[in-house]
Amino acid sequence: MPLLAERMSRAKPSAIMAVAEKAKQLKAAGKDIISFSIGVPNFLPGEHVYAAAREALAHDSGQYGSNRGSEALLDAFLKHLQDGGFNGYERKNLAVGVGAKQVLYNLAEALLDPGDEIVFPTPYWTSYVDIAEIVGARITRLACPSTQNYKLKPEQLAKALASKPKVFLFNNPSNPTGMVYTKDEIAALADVLAAHPDTWIICDDIYNRLVFDGIGYHNFLHVRPELRERTILVDSISKTYGMPGWRVGFVAAPANVAQALATLNSNHITSLPEVITAAAVAALSGPQDIPLQKAKEFAAKRDRVLAVLEAIPGVKCPRPQGAFYVFPDISVAFGKKHPAGAISNDVDLCSVLLDAKGVACVPGSAFGEPRALRISYTCPDAQLDDGMKRIKDFFAELV
Ligand SMILES: Cc1ncc(COP(=O)(O)O)c(C=O)c1O
Repeated sequence: MPLLAERMSRAKPSAIMAVAEKAKQLKAAGKDIISFSIGVPNFLPGEHVYAAAREALAHDSGQYGSNRGSEALLDAFLKHLQDGGFNGYERKNLAVGVGAKQVLYNLAEALLDPGDEIVFPTPYWTSYVDIAEIVGARITRLACPSTQNYKLKPEQLAKALASKPKVFLFNNPSNPTGMVYTKDEIAALADVLAAHPDTWIICDDIYNRLVFDGIGYHNFLHVRPELRERTILVDSISKTYGMPGWRVGFVAAPANVAQALATLNSNHITSLPEVITAAAVAALSGPQDIPLQKAKEFAAKRDRVLAVLEAIPGVKCPRPQGAFYVFPDISVAFGKKHPAGAISNDVDLCSVLLDAKGVACVPGSAFGEPRALRISYTCPDAQLDDGMKRIKDFFAELV
C-alpha cells in the first residue's frame, strides 16, 4: 500500500478542537455542558457587514479573484493599519489568506526550510508548534511561566537570538494567557531585536483591538520603525469583528514576503470569494464601535472569572489585560482526588472536570504549559457564572 508523505507523521489535529469536539458530543448526548474551550468571540458582526455581503451576492461575477487580495480589501486593510499606527505601507506590502491561521502557515512555507530554527515564547498558541512541525522547522520554546506573568524578558530574547534563528514569532495580546505587553516592555524587547538583524520577526497581533484597562496596544514598529524591513504583521477579522467563520486574514510585510504569500495563494487557495471580500471590506471600513464595546464587555467578564479563581486556595492567575482568555496555574490540584477521578496532571483535571461538572476547558499542555488550563470566557454572563461556580465547587471537592 502506498504511504502518506513523511511530513504527515509530524502533523497533528488541533488539541483545542479535540476538547471542543468531546464537549459537543456530550452535549449532543443530552449532558448539561458549558464550554470554555474554543476561542470564539461569541458575537456577530454588524448589519452593515451582512448588507455588504448581500449586495455582493446580487452582483457576483462568479470569477476567480486576485491572489494577493482585491484592491478594495487591501485598501481597507491599509486604512485599518493606519488606524493602528502603522504608516507607510502600500498594496505591494500586503496579502490576504483564509484566516490568520492560513497566513501563518503560508509564512512558515515562505520563510522556513527544513531544519531552520523558529523561536517563540511559551505558553504559545497551539498551531505555532503544529505548523512549524509540518514544515520541518526546529522549534525553540522560550519558557515564560506564571511567575514572570507569562511574559518574555529581554535577556531571554537576547540569549535566544544569539543563535541567529530564522524566525522569532511573537503574539500580543496572547492566546492562551490574555497577557498584554506594556509600551516599556515592547520597547525593551524591540531594542534586543534591533541588535539582532538576522532574524525575521512575525507579530501575530490578531487581538490588537481587544485590549483592556487603558494599557493600549503596542508593537515593535511603533517604537522602532526601522524594524519594518524584517517585521511581518499578521491580522485577522476573526476576533475583532466577530467573524471567525468568514476566514479572512492579512499580512503586512516587506514586499518580497507579501509577494511570496501571493505566489503561494496562487498555488492553493487562488483567491478569497467575492462575497467574503465585500463583507471583510465592510467590517474594516464600517463603524469601529463594536470591537471597542466588546473590549469593555470582555474586561468585565475577565473580572468575573478572576474573582472566582482568586477565591480558590492555591490557584494562581496573572491578570490578563486583553483577548478573551484566562490562564490560571491549577497545579495545586495535581496529586489530589475528585470523586469522579484522580488528578495527576492538567489533562486529567480537564477530563475529570468535564465528566463531573460538564465544564470544558483546554489543558495548558496544549499551549506548552502543563501547570495551567485555558478558560475562554466569551459566553453569556449567566453561563459564565454557572461554569465558574462549577469550577469552584470542583476544587472544593478535591481531597
Ligand atoms: C494567536 C492566534 N493567532 C491566529 C489565530 C487564527 O485566527 P484566524 O481565525 O484568523 O485563522 C488564532 C485563533 O484562535 C489565534 O488565537
